[in-house]
Amino acid sequence: MKALKKVGASAGLEFVDVPEPHLERSTDVKIRVLRAGICGTDLHILAWDSSAQDMCDTVPFIPGHEFYGEVVEVGSEVLDVKVGDRVSGEGHVVCNICRNCRAGRRHMCRRSRGIGVQRDGAFAEYVVIPDENVWVHENNSKTDIITPELGAVFDPLGNAVHTTLKFPVVGEDVLITGAGPIGLMCAAVARHAGARYIAITDVADHRLDMAAAAGADVAINVAKERVRDSQAVLGMIEGFDVGLETSGNPSAVKEMIDNMNHGGKISLLGLPAREFEINWTHVITRMLTLQGIYGREMFETWNAMSAMLRSSEKLRGQILATVTDVLPAEQWEKGYEMARTAAGGKIVLDWENV
Ligand SMILES: NC(=O)c1ccc[n+]([C@@H]2O[C@H](COP(=O)([O-])OP(=O)(O)OC[C@H]3O[C@@H](n4cnc5c(N)ncnc54)[C@H](O)[C@@H]3O)[C@@H](O)[C@H]2O)c1
Ligand SMILES: [Zn+2]
Ligand SMILES: [Zn+2]
Repeated sequence: MKALKKVGASAGLEFVDVPEPHLERSTDVKIRVLRAGICGTDLHILAWDSSAQDMCDTVPFIPGHEFYGEVVEVGSEVLDVKVGDRVSGEGHVVCNICRNCRAGRRHMCRRSRGIGVQRDGAFAEYVVIPDENVWVHENNSKTDIITPELGAVFDPLGNAVHTTLKFPVVGEDVLITGAGPIGLMCAAVARHAGARYIAITDVADHRLDMAAAAGADVAINVAKERVRDSQAVLGMIEGFDVGLETSGNPSAVKEMIDNMNHGGKISLLGLPAREFEINWTHVITRMLTLQGIYGREMFETWNAMSAMLRSSEKLRGQILATVTDVLPAEQWEKGYEMARTAAGGKIVLDWENV
């Protein structure tokens, strides 16, 4: 099969022929990959920077962890996944034995291994994952409302749903920092879930241009204007109730803290490139809650996003709109470059016709 492979511990990837993966355990599932999204992690892996070197301990390997496909083979002990099922995949393979796993908090597993990071992933014609990581879409027909492109973004959408719904947003004023694919999805989910005002920031106008369609009331370019001024535009006087940080930029975190109401809750998803200072006195005296968010809740987030997408055509349209480009897998270099330069939104590779 064709696959995109990290062949050595250095920058770059190669589009190569490799043997198809086979089921290693009786609970494994083999999936024909149809679409797979490019994520920031994939850019780190391509560049082989220090964060990739820290994460990836098994070279050579095939990257790719945001995907949608069709099941072609199941192990003898697999009960709930059938050949022909159309599925997405949860990228974190957990140990099932640590304290958190045993307590049902599998997203907090201390021994979690990443598909496409620490084991072979989905930038290939086939991928093999454990059955418990398979998310079967309810309707297996090719005309399902969960299209291949929507199915391919369940991983980042799950990040957005986890981030947005960590704290109640009904009737609340929400500030989102970073209008990348995940920040835009957060806006759509917050709107769907009943937020009052939604403000979103970025430093790139073309990303902010997508914010209104995603459901935001105001889009703020923080290279030119301040979040404080947008509060006035909205008629807000006390500050935001819920903050969703999806940029990873220290200045965004600082400005968010400055613009929260007392008692505000902040979900932090964006990954900063380095340590940085914040105003702890504000966090303490304003009784702010800072909550780190990693991955998706297994599997309540999956349940929530499936249910919300199936019940709302509007939300489906808003999430699909964050996918700006679908390229043949052979054009992976172009896709990575578009993702690296943030020229569009989410970039998806088509593995169906390689
Ligand atoms: N915690 C997790 O489990 C997890 C999972 C996936 C992604 N992430 C992180 O979430 C973040 C969002 O992911 P994405 O795919 O949307 O990334 P992205 O890089 O496409 O989007 C980030 C956006 O933030 C903007 N930005 C930069 N500086 C800013 C500033 N000062 N203020 C406001 N916006 C600013 C960028 O222009 C960009 O549009 C990234 O940091 C990513 O690494 C975390
Ligand atoms: Zn990802
Ligand atoms: Zn565990």
